[in-house]
Order: sequence, then structure tokens, then C-alpha cells
Amino acid sequence: MGRRIFLLGLVLALLGTPLAVDKNNFKTCEQSSFCRRLRKYEPGNSVYHLDLSSLQVNENSIEASLVNSEVPAANLKLHLQAVVGNIFRVTVDEVNGLHPRYKPQFALNGEPQVNKLEVLERNLETVTVKCGSNKVKVTANPLKLEFYQSEQLVAVVNGKGLFAFEHYRNKPAEGETDVQIKDDPGAWEENFKSHHDSKPRGPSAIGADFSFPGSERAYGLPEHGDYLPLRTTGTGGNDPYRLYNLDVFEYELDSTMATYGSIPVLYAHGTKHTVGVFWHNAAETWVDINNSKDGNMVSSLVNLVSGSKTEANVDARFMSESGAMDFFVLMGPTPRDAVKQYASLTGVHTLPQLFALAYHQSRWNYNDQDDVTNVVAKFDIHNMPLDVMWLDIEYTDSKKYFTWDPIKFSQPENMVSNLTGTGRKLVVIIDPHIKREAGYFLHEDALKYDFYVKNKEGNVYEGWCWPGSSSYLDVYNPAAQDYYKKLYSLEFFKGTTHDVWLWNDMNEPSVFNGPEVTMPKDMVHYGGWEHRDVHNEYASAYIRITHQGLLLRSPHRRPFILTRGHFAGSQRFAATWTGDNEAKWSHLAASLPMCLSEALSGLSFCGADVGGFFHNPDPELLQRWYQGGIWLPFFRAHAHIDTRRREPFLYPDEVMSNIRHSLRLRYAHLPLWYTLFWEHETTGEPVIRPLFYHYPEDEKVLDIDNTVLVGQSVLARPVTTAGETSVEVYLPGGSNAKWYDIEDYNLYQGGSHKVPVSLDKHVVFYRGGSIIPRKDRPRRSSTVMHNDPFTLYVALDSNNAASGTLYVDDYQSFEYKNDKKYLYVHFKFENNKLTSSLIDKTDYATEEWIERVIILGPVNKHVSKAKITSKSLGVATLEVSYDAEYKSLTIRKPAVSVREPFTIELV
Ligand code: NOJ
Repeated sequence: MGRRIFLLGLVLALLGTPLAVDKNNFKTCEQSSFCRRLRKYEPGNSVYHLDLSSLQVNENSIEASLVNSEVPAANLKLHLQAVVGNIFRVTVDEVNGLHPRYKPQFALNGEPQVNKLEVLERNLETVTVKCGSNKVKVTANPLKLEFYQSEQLVAVVNGKGLFAFEHYRNKPAEGETDVQIKDDPGAWEENFKSHHDSKPRGPSAIGADFSFPGSERAYGLPEHGDYLPLRTTGTGGNDPYRLYNLDVFEYELDSTMATYGSIPVLYAHGTKHTVGVFWHNAAETWVDINNSKDGNMVSSLVNLVSGSKTEANVDARFMSESGAMDFFVLMGPTPRDAVKQYASLTGVHTLPQLFALAYHQSRWNYNDQDDVTNVVAKFDIHNMPLDVMWLDIEYTDSKKYFTWDPIKFSQPENMVSNLTGTGRKLVVIIDPHIKREAGYFLHEDALKYDFYVKNKEGNVYEGWCWPGSSSYLDVYNPAAQDYYKKLYSLEFFKGTTHDVWLWNDMNEPSVFNGPEVTMPKDMVHYGGWEHRDVHNEYASAYIRITHQGLLLRSPHRRPFILTRGHFAGSQRFAATWTGDNEAKWSHLAASLPMCLSEALSGLSFCGADVGGFFHNPDPELLQRWYQGGIWLPFFRAHAHIDTRRREPFLYPDEVMSNIRHSLRLRYAHLPLWYTLFWEHETTGEPVIRPLFYHYPEDEKVLDIDNTVLVGQSVLARPVTTAGETSVEVYLPGGSNAKWYDIEDYNLYQGGSHKVPVSLDKHVVFYRGGSIIPRKDRPRRSSTVMHNDPFTLYVALDSNNAASGTLYVDDYQSFEYKNDKKYLYVHFKFENNKLTSSLIDKTDYATEEWIERVIILGPVNKHVSKAKITSKSLGVATLEVSYDAEYKSLTIRKPAVSVREPFTIELV
């Protein structure tokens, strides 16, 4: 089937014919045997109960035997643990099972730190435990867990009785029924015919229902081409949200179908509280959502303590094919808290090099080394900034990674030095499939050292991808990891330098002739794990090696990697993008909720192919896409091999000038992006945020996903429909809030506004109350901006005050971490005085200084002087002027280093 799809895809691609996703290639819940099986369970009394006579109380946890009254042979244990930072962890596993059950190895950033748990009350029916102001009441029969923030019930597990745990067992004899799979006896045949170690396993799905009383929306569970708020599934033929990393050709929008990445974290949010669930499982997973607000279900009533009842607006039900049950309840109570709690478990992106936040120019493919050099030259000629050129698969010698095409890229050293000589970087692609060709070192080594993934008969698995017949490195084998990471060394990967970085694509993994275009589930990995157990984590396991390889290669540079497949925790290794989107307005619009959802789920460093991957954008769409793309963290133009060339310099002056304007706005805001990434690393806060993140109590923002907050100070509402002359924007914060248009400094009050939009208009605002550091001198690349001076934009709030931060270091090395060579500056404006102070006691000998301060919304226009005071300057007088058109005050040339604390007072 897969090869047919591939050939069909290829033919269509060659014809350039647009076609939507072929749904026949991908399973529905009904076709996925475990999903079908679990989804048949009806709400009711659960067959599971805890045997509280076996309760063990430890300092940080409690545990007890869990009994399935229909399958007494199942020997399960439930473990409830308190984790530092308002988190509970629940695991259910088999005791002395026939096989161990898989727990992801790379999602968590180390073992979570446990917290003290206090037992408040226990008897044979219930046990109640407490940690800080949070409480969990565990009811034994039927099993139920209720989570309280203070005295408020916020989450219930198994309130509907849909808990399921199919334990490993021997296949029932002829005529015997397997009660765990009830009326689906085919389940044994479908997935578990035989095993590499010929030990029986049997269907081993797990599932649990969660209710979130008082919640109005659910968010999270990327990656789907869908809205930000999750919709009710199960009605109107809507399948559950599927989490199964897949290479979906022309993925559809408004869809719960799986795509390239899977992050099983969900946030249930109401205007009074937020709670999250992180379902720590790497197998194929489906999640049903029920939101009573969608109006298509009678909302369920959940029993509360002492018989009182509360409406549960949002319900979720997780179902996974295999693995242990292990989930974390993130107790919030705000969205900000819950998202940070998730980051505390799975880690953060470490600060990228500055160039990674600048503009990336890619296409499949730049034809040859001269093409690369010429494209860069054209950017320079047309005064458009550019930092990174990308090479897709055609740079290789016949898709053999770590080699160069001997004709088109015969002199990679020259090409790279031409490029890096202008301050630019190169990113090259390396995919996980390995061409099975005699004489190709990588294939021969992998065979020799037994590094390939095997099939259940113990033979090397063979699939089909770009190079044709391919095999796949077993990224779970430590010896293979060790071998592979060394391939990135400069000695080995000739032509690369410390300025060449990596793109890992097709790592779901994509297998053109595999079931659902991926690796069959019964392939076997190191440690005896079936691919079924690890599938969603495979990409993470792969990029983890690249990350280690790059650290080994360039120990003094922060690695940059782009990955397509991703899972919980992938943010520790790479940035991601939304894959093969289309040059359509709907895909431009979808890039915002898709990346916002990733950002809430740990993966802030997200972007979408600017211009759209498939097909050709018209100039209007392309311009709007640049205008939107600059407000997502990863900013790269990319295009399919069959599209027309669309580098911005190929367009008429007017188009070029609009794109140049967008590029320059991105570069001007690099200090803001960089500061936000530092703050992300140190606090876990996402770099981009949906409105509800900062305005959780405002009901009006719950469904807004066409607006992005960059940090807390910038609000972007890109134009995502054709032919617009105005757009609606909602500016949160109430009527007292002030927002300033970043282009004409027009002042808007909080509320809904219709903003006129010409083709060169960015609908973007600074929040009154913030100070935004910018570098406004137009440059060719971010590298030459390192020492440029800052302009501070002081956007005043209704108290005529504002504050902001700025982070500065060498923009590339680890000295900020190892030697504390950085500056983290706090700016505050109040009572007509701007004060700068260092937040951390660190130093970095930067040459950067402040060249200008622009005050938006000043009360007093008649100011012509300011007084600056600092250690090196003493007291000096500065010129101030009022611009009537832009209604702003400009303080000229403070000329003070950002390294030194200062005050500037308007006089
Ligand atoms: C699929 C990726 O999503 C796309 O960006 C890339 O151009 C092609 N693979 C070819 O490598």
C-alpha cells in the first residue's frame, strides 16, 4: 500500500496537482483496534477497585493494589506521588507481569523531584492526601481520584468508570473468552500474532477518563491542523484527537488527524482555574474531548464531596495502545502555572544562538553551490537581512547522508566559507533512513555493528524512503547512538564547519511503504521494545543523538537543530515547524494556533514554512505570510521542489519593499526574542502565548487563536484572509488598558477594534506598561548586529508607568551558563524617570549601548531636556523632542552602556 501511495504522491507532485490528504491511508479510531475496543466502554461503574488494606504510605507517595474484578489475575499497583511544584504523579503498572511495560525514556528532563505527602484521612473506603494547598481524595471502590486546589475540585479520574488496563497474559485457549477484550476477539490476531521473543503479550491498551469541573476549554495535545481550543469529539463523525507521529501528505485543517508530532499534554481551563494532565506514554494514543460548551452533549454531573454537585464542562479520555500508565496532574492554578509545571517536568529549549532567531531562507532545493552564493548576494543587493541558508536532500550524493553531490556541491568548503564569510550560517538536512547500498559506509557499518532496527524474525528491517530501499538506525541502541553522534564531527562530515547546523526531517519515522507511511509496530528495538511502545518518541530519541553529536563537534556553540517529528521533551534538543503546509490562506491562519499549541506544550521554538510548502502563493499571500511569520519564534521560508522560485528579491519593488519592511521588523525585535528565550530557559514560560495565558479571567479570549502574544508586551494579529481592508482585533486588559500600534504609535484602549489594513500594514501592538528593547539599525544579518545600540520603546500605561527586561551575552557560546557572562537588565519607568538596573549579579563586557529612548503616550509633550545619571557619565543633559505626528517623545543619545545602571529623568 505504502509504495503505491509514494508513487502516486510522486506523480502528483511532478504534475504539481493539488490534492488533499488521502484519508484512506490513515486509520480512524474504528480501524485502530485498541481505540475501537476502548471506545466501546460505556460510562458506568468501573470494574477497578483499590485494595486499601494493602495501602502503603511513604514519605512522598502512597501505593496500593489495584484489582480488576473481572480479571482477578491481573496484578496491578497504583502509585500516587507528590512532585515538587504543585504536581501529582499517578502510575499504574503490572507487578511481576509477563513483560515490563514501556515508559518513555527521553520525555522527562530527569526524574521529577518528589515532594512530601501528608495523609489527612484514611479508612478502607477512602484515603485523602495533601501536598501544599492541594489535596487528592482516593476512593477505593470503584476507583476514583479527585484532585482539589485548596477546597476546589478541579479534576476527577475515573469518575465515569472508563479506566482500562489490559494486562499481559497468555492467549486464551480455543473457546475461551478473553474478558479484557470483550467482544473484539480479533484483537489478538490483528496486532499480536507472534513475537520476536515468542512470549505472549496480548492486547495491552490502557485508558482513563478525566473530568475537569468548572473548566470551559481544553487546550494542548499538538500536533493537529486544528484550532487552539480543542473541540468535542465523537459527534458529527469527529474522531478523537490522534497522537501518532505520521508523515501525512497534504495534511488537512480543522482536523483531529495525527500529524508529525505528538505531545500528550492537555490543559483544562476555566476563568477561575486551570489544571493540566501530562499523559506520559509514547505509544499510539487517542484522546476524546467532551466540552459541554460545544452544546452537543448534556454535560455530566460529577459527584463532589458531601454530596454537592458541580458541572463538569470539559471531559477528556486518553487511550494508548501499550506501555505503563503514568500521568501527571498539573495543579495550576493559572494557565501560566500549569504550563510552567509542564516545563519543570520535560525541560526547556536552552537559549539558541541569535542567528537561529533571525531569518532562514530555504527551498527544496538550492540547485548547486553557486545558487547558494548567488541567493545570498541578491539579499545583500536588495538590502534584505538574511542569516541562514538551507540545503535540502538534493545536496547529498544520491541521498546518502553525510556526503555531498560530487557535481552540484563539489566544493562545499568554498561554498560554506563564502557564506559564513558574510556572517551567515548553513543548515543541512540529515534524515534517519539509511540507503541500503553496498559501499556506503553508513550502511556497511550499521550492518557490521548490528545497529539497524530489526523485524520480529530478527532480520534487518527494510523500508522505502527518499533513497529507495532503506534501513533505520536503532536509536535506542547505546552503541549505535555513540557511533552516530561522532559522524557529525568536522573530521568526518567533510565540508561542514562550526557554522553548519542540522535539520532532521522524516523522523516520525517516515517509511513510504510502511503501514500508515511509518514503521510497522512489531519491529524490534534495543531492549526488546516493540516499535509500538516507542513510536511517538522515536524522533526525540533520534534528535537527542544529533544534539549530543553537535555538542561534541562544537562544544563552544549552542546547537541548532530543526526536527519534524516530535514528542514531549523534544524542546530540549530542537526547534520544530508545522511540516508540509500549503500556499493557502487557511494554512497561514493555521500556523498561529498550531504554534501556540506547541508553545503551551513545551515547544516554543516553532514556525511554519513561510509562503506555504506546496503550490505557489500569490504576492498578496506571500507578503501577508512574511507579516505573520515574523511573529512566530522560528522564521523560515521554505518551498516544495516543484514550486516556482519565490525568494523575496524576485518580486516587483512594491512587494519587495513590504517584505523588506517585515524582515526589518523581525530584526529590530531580535533583542526581545532573545530575551524571551532566555526567560523561557530560566522560567519555563513559553516565548509566544495565546491571550488566555495572560488574561485567564477574560471569557472573551477563550476562543481567540488568530492573535499571538510575544512575551507579555507585543500583541500580533496577522492578516490571514485575502483582500482585507480591515481586521477585527481584540485587545485585552479592559478599558483601562492601553495598546500602541507599533507602526504609527496610535493609542487603542482595551476592547474590540476594527483596524484598517493596507498591504504594508502589520497589525501589531505594544502593551502599555511595557518597555521593549529594539535594535533599529538595518543590517544584513544578526551577526553584524551583535554590538549595535538599542532603542528602548517605553509604552506607558494608564499610570504613566512601564517596565521591561533585556538579556545580553555573546549570542553564541555557553559562557552565559558556565561563566555567568551575561547581563539581565531591568528597565522601569515611573514618575518621569527611567531606571536601569541589573537583575542578576553578573557581568558581561558588551559594547552595546543605548542610543535612543522613545516614549509612547507621554503626558507632558513640552519636555525638551532629560538628565542622565550613571557612574561613568556622572550627570549629563540629554535632548528630548516631541513628535506630534507619532505622539511620542524621543530622548536622544543617552550613550550609556547597557552594562551600567543608570537613571534618565525628564526635566
Ligand atoms: C519533507 C519535509 O517536510 C520538507 O520540508 C522537505 O522539503 C522534504 N521532506 C524533502 O526533504
